[in-house]
Amino acid sequence: MFIFLDGSWVTREEATVSVFDHGLLYGDGVFEGIRAYDGVVFRLKEHIDRLYQSAKAILLEIPYTPEEMHELVLELLRKNNFRSAYIRLIVTRGVGDLGLDPFKCPRASVIIIAQELALFPAELYEKGIQVVTVSTRRNRNDVLAPAIKSLNYLNNIMAKIEARRAGAQEALMLNTEGFVAEGTGENVFLVRKNALLTPPAYIGALKGITRQAVIDLAGGLGFTVLEQPFTLHDVYTADEMFFTGTAAEIVPVVMVDGRTIGEGVPGTMTKQLSQAFHDLVRQDGSRIESSVKQVS
Ligand SMILES: Cc1ncc(COP(=O)(O)O)c(C=O)c1O
Repeated sequence: MFIFLDGSWVTREEATVSVFDHGLLYGDGVFEGIRAYDGVVFRLKEHIDRLYQSAKAILLEIPYTPEEMHELVLELLRKNNFRSAYIRLIVTRGVGDLGLDPFKCPRASVIIIAQELALFPAELYEKGIQVVTVSTRRNRNDVLAPAIKSLNYLNNIMAKIEARRAGAQEALMLNTEGFVAEGTGENVFLVRKNALLTPPAYIGALKGITRQAVIDLAGGLGFTVLEQPFTLHDVYTADEMFFTGTAAEIVPVVMVDGRTIGEGVPGTMTKQLSQAFHDLVRQDGSRIESSVKQVS
């Protein structure tokens, strides 16, 4: 397996970083989780755009242009002969001293890894998952903007610990005002009658690329989408619920805090959107073999 590490294609064993890297010392860096399906990297451009926005927000200069980064991801997949894979793109602040001053780190480090990933066992997509609301609140916008996909995921990890300790597969996180924000690595949707509800990003959610894909698909299926804040009461009384994320894809939620959602099985709108999503991901993105010329 090849990994891209600061300009070189290295093996798994060779892919090591310095103990002075501020990504390791302070979680100072940004990342993206991307996915390729049957030779297409789903919405790669959107992922690269979000990476550069996260980097801009933390004043991190990425030593490649977005176009170069785009090509590096495709090249990694070609080198590994992968047509389907989960891709992790990481940019750390790089090597500095033990102080936290980022200006003492002369060059950011770029790492790209591709491998297979199954976040939840396949049967949970058929049956749906159980979720608990956790006491860990989502980062506030005025403390650390949740829109930054940074290497500091302790907020989400604390929530995941709570959920796993409570015997649930995933956590539902609220913001500090008690509105529903998101999962630990997923955006959240409710279905109420013919409408889909999802919290606006300012509530405390990442602007998910899967979230946007679901919003785009919903229009075509004739569903209304409302980006508006909602509470746990809305969750408990929803007809259907699901999480979205690159790793999780669309995962139905059938129980929250001991309350059955809808009929307690994945709902029909969730299934329709899931089907449409699985068709979309094989078309809407960058072709891995894009540089291969057609022989006429
Ligand atoms: C905190 C958080 N929310 C939501 C998401 C879902 O975003 P996307 O659909 O872009 O993967 C992720 C994963 O990237 C995440 O880390």
